[in-house]
Amino acid sequence: MKASAVANKEFTIAKIDDRVYGAFLEHLGRAIYEGIYEPDHPTADENGMRGDVAKLVKDLNVPVVRYPGGNFVSAYNWEDGIGPREERPVRLDLAWHTSESNHVGIHEFADWCATVGTEMMLAVNLGSRGVDEARNFLEYVNHPGGSYWSDLRIKNGRKEPWNVKLWCLGNEMDGPWQVGHKDAAEYGKLAANTARAMRMFDKSLELIVCGSSNADMPSYPDWERIVLEHTYDHVDFISLHMYFFNPEKETANFLTMAEKLDTYIETVAATIKQVKAKKRSKHDVYICFDEWNVWYHSKEQDKKLLGGNSGWPHAPGLLEDVYNFEDVLMVGLILNTFIRRSDVVKIACIAQLVNVIAPIMTEKGGPAWAQTIYYPYYFASIFGRGTALDLKVDSPTYDGRYGDNAAYVDISGVHDEEGSTLTFFLVNRHGTENADVELSLQGFATGSVIDHQVMTHPNLEATNTAKNQDEVKPRKGEGATVVDGKLSVTLPPYSYQMVRVKI
Ligand code: AHR
Repeated sequence: MKASAVANKEFTIAKIDDRVYGAFLEHLGRAIYEGIYEPDHPTADENGMRGDVAKLVKDLNVPVVRYPGGNFVSAYNWEDGIGPREERPVRLDLAWHTSESNHVGIHEFADWCATVGTEMMLAVNLGSRGVDEARNFLEYVNHPGGSYWSDLRIKNGRKEPWNVKLWCLGNEMDGPWQVGHKDAAEYGKLAANTARAMRMFDKSLELIVCGSSNADMPSYPDWERIVLEHTYDHVDFISLHMYFFNPEKETANFLTMAEKLDTYIETVAATIKQVKAKKRSKHDVYICFDEWNVWYHSKEQDKKLLGGNSGWPHAPGLLEDVYNFEDVLMVGLILNTFIRRSDVVKIACIAQLVNVIAPIMTEKGGPAWAQTIYYPYYFASIFGRGTALDLKVDSPTYDGRYGDNAAYVDISGVHDEEGSTLTFFLVNRHGTENADVELSLQGFATGSVIDHQVMTHPNLEATNTAKNQDEVKPRKGEGATVVDGKLSVTLPPYSYQMVRVKI
């Protein structure tokens, strides 16, 4: 199979917001406890945070981490997680039918973010609580001192405010599974009132209102329209979520879920435009895709626990998807979509970061390792920063269950002007044929290949485990060349590649 593409310096999509490579950590399963926090672990620091996990996170250069939920936040009292640990209450978490020790709260999370070099993105509880909780939490986190909540923060050991800019107005409020679920108008009013109160404290906050939990929700896309009609001028982002699944093991169909993602983004972007026009607003609202990942491998085994038949365990292993090589291709396609939609998607969070549907896995008292999907996420986060190129791609296509005209060769391109590099992320969705790709580099100085990484595996179901951590990992590619302003590279069947060109 042959494919070609044109990258022209003058044809760009947008500056990619670094925060599109964000992540998410929820008080769920072993994400926090035994994930980032395990005071008895041999690598734990003075705060009880695992050093091996922190290193894997640091290597990813994650720009922002959303916290503390997720469904968990809809019945969470943030005040339970402050003050002396031994005095913090154990609470029942209704979302995941577990017990919450509250040994990790805002102080511990903030310290961990500083350790790994990331920003916080905090969610307020608009399920069981509302405006009052949101304004108090904001005051605790961002006010310098001299008020009840800020002085309490100082008393609890943190003098400087954290100055968190990004705030989520609840989580998945369209979902009937949510504590305090609301209809769109009800939620829209509450979100607008909460946003108003938060902006009375600080106009410069960046606020995120809940969009749909997925593109199959019965209320989608009316939900977006109604919620935005109530909140448009008070918020900066609308949040979307999507999880990708392949229980039938139909790779070709599975991989067309990227087309469905693209349509989802397109539809919500059009809704944003419509509401903006209707309101004659000068303000812009963007998409914050703050939960995305493959999620299905663990669903069967979780049914027992999530049915509530196991009591209220603390930090049980939940949503522990073990990712395979096929998922590398899906995650590569998702990240390519975000790069191509960088004009409207400004923030995105892989869900989640550790143990719970995550690129990083841990064993209690044992190792931490990179799952298969760690690598495409790593490459995009490290090398996918700059300006997204509007590539003209000519590739054979196929029709799948989730979208038609899916290009077998999927490519995104990024121009990093500061570093004088072009980076291309390529996925071959063909299961049996090589793809010979020729990419014309127009308007750029003559270049040469400086890095070429390839991920292939004879077994789509191959995984990385505690005992075999390197079964699926990138290797240096060979044979990518730039001759006469044309980059040539061959993609083996079902493969992911990154090629970087110095210009
Ligand atoms: O990430 C797991 C869960 O998926 C989150 O708690 C929720 O927001 C979504 O349904």
